[in-house]
Amino acid sequence: MEDPKPAKPRRDFLFIATGAVAAIGVAAVAKPLVGQWSPAGDTVAKYGLDVDLSKLQAGEQILVHVVGRPVAIRYRTPAEIAAAQADDDADMIDPATDRSRLRPKPDGSFDPRFLVFVPICTHFGCFVVGEAGDFDGWYCPCHGAHFDTSGRVRKPPAPTNMAIPPYKWVSDTVISIAYLNPS
Ligand code: FES
Repeated sequence: MEDPKPAKPRRDFLFIATGAVAAIGVAAVAKPLVGQWSPAGDTVAKYGLDVDLSKLQAGEQILVHVVGRPVAIRYRTPAEIAAAQADDDADMIDPATDRSRLRPKPDGSFDPRFLVFVPICTHFGCFVVGEAGDFDGWYCPCHGAHFDTSGRVRKPPAPTNMAIPPYKWVSDTVISIAYLNPS
């Protein structure tokens, strides 16, 4: 007899679609990509949710949900990457280089175009607004924290940078986001 419960990969796809819609409505940063997004071929990864980024364009961002936790992936423009790297040595509330917020690809290289992060303000947990704020990164409308294009907090009251979820590149275009909480 057939199992009436939907398979796990199908549920993951629905989370992706829902997340993309939420990104459009809440953060006004995503473009209508719902029809183009689908899980990578093998979504039953032991590690987590696989997301194929090959169709993402510069300046676009998607939102997925991994076990209920939102994770945003932004394809940063050259200007956003340059701004993030140029500020590596700037005074910061929670110092971190842009490189430290990326993860290596299987060949050991880093691709600064893709920033994977939890788009939640670290003050009291509001969703941030993209392409906004004094550093053209993200802005928290709740109490006014500003984040740069690396997701680093640059103006309080947020005490720390936006979290980087545990994830890894599993190919040149696919990341796998772990079914775990950010550390
Ligand atoms: S929740 Fe973001 S600044 Fe307070």
